[in-house]
Amino acid sequence: MTTFGFTLHATDGAARSGAIATPRGTIRTPAFMPVGTAGTVKAMLPESVAATGADILLGNTYHLMLRPGAERVARLGGLHAFMHWNKPILTDSGGFQVMSLAGLRKMSEDGVAFRSHIDGSTHMLSPERSMEIQRLLGSDIVMCFDECPALPASEAEVARAMRLSMRWAERSKQAFGDRPGHALFGIMQGGVTRELREESADALTAIGFDGYAVGGLAVGEGQEAMFGVLDYATGFLPADRPRYLMGVGKPDDIVGAVARGIDMMDCVLPSRSGRTGQAFTRRGVVNIKNASHADDPRPLDEHCSCPACRNYSRAYLHHVFRAQEILSSMLLTWHNLHYFQELMAGMRAAIAEGRFAAWQAAFHAGRAEGDI
Ligand code: GUN
Ligand code: ZN
Repeated sequence: MTTFGFTLHATDGAARSGAIATPRGTIRTPAFMPVGTAGTVKAMLPESVAATGADILLGNTYHLMLRPGAERVARLGGLHAFMHWNKPILTDSGGFQVMSLAGLRKMSEDGVAFRSHIDGSTHMLSPERSMEIQRLLGSDIVMCFDECPALPASEAEVARAMRLSMRWAERSKQAFGDRPGHALFGIMQGGVTRELREESADALTAIGFDGYAVGGLAVGEGQEAMFGVLDYATGFLPADRPRYLMGVGKPDDIVGAVARGIDMMDCVLPSRSGRTGQAFTRRGVVNIKNASHADDPRPLDEHCSCPACRNYSRAYLHHVFRAQEILSSMLLTWHNLHYFQELMAGMRAAIAEGRFAAWQAAFHAGRAEGDI
């Protein structure tokens, strides 16, 4: 059996390209993970998600434990079989979603008790229960249970949450145990404070994980502050393990993160925007609901090979959006996921060939020209 492993193929400045081997297939890095929160990437068949170039999906402990339930998914053969996706799945651990979605919450050293946002029923998550749920789901890359403090938060509050998360990381590792072919990633916290980030990275590397995530960013601090943290934070992490920036982001966030040594990212942006009529292109965001597209026979992006661009005009995409047809969400989501995967493929090739700075300059120049 293939075990989990990370191979670095090339570096260019701080940017890296490589591959994560798993028993369910290889993840080319830098990788973008589409979000399949509730066991589906909304508006997409799994085979269509694969056709966009995705090597791995993200799933959510929080949503799946509430509905349909982790034990039920396990009885039905695990999440891969249940949702018909046989490539790798990374699951987030639930703590972050509890803080952003759940009703009444009660935090303690042990974990968090909360009310479901779906039906108000009471549940609890702890490092041990989160590891159990992620095992029941059959996740390939399991995330430690952590606490990401909501902003605005004082430095004392950020420090408290980080230190709790480090104790939970130790418990997560103990509860995860030894599972060949499956990986456990630690999550760095510490807000925008360098000393806290370093303390967190040291605590995680002392425990030892298969990969390391940078958490607690893209929570409202702004791009400049986020890049400021990444400028030093990736350097605190072991070079021979994948580094995952959680919940990022817009295309220019992704490019900036890769430039600073990040290997993996996830974001709802391409799929969510697809459902609200926003399309990402090399020239920036196109709002398909604008009346200017009503008579436009051109494709969304003449350089894009996705079905939305190959087979349909902007006028048609505008029409199905305005008519609230389901096909609108399907086509725009496909296009956006394709765009994000092409972005990653472009960066991987540029890093491998030692021309990442030129690629980055061309990326920013294309966007400066704007949509035409
Ligand atoms: N998703 C985005 N940010 C975070 C974070 O800090 N922790 C977890 N678990 N998930 C996230
Ligand atoms: Zn397209």
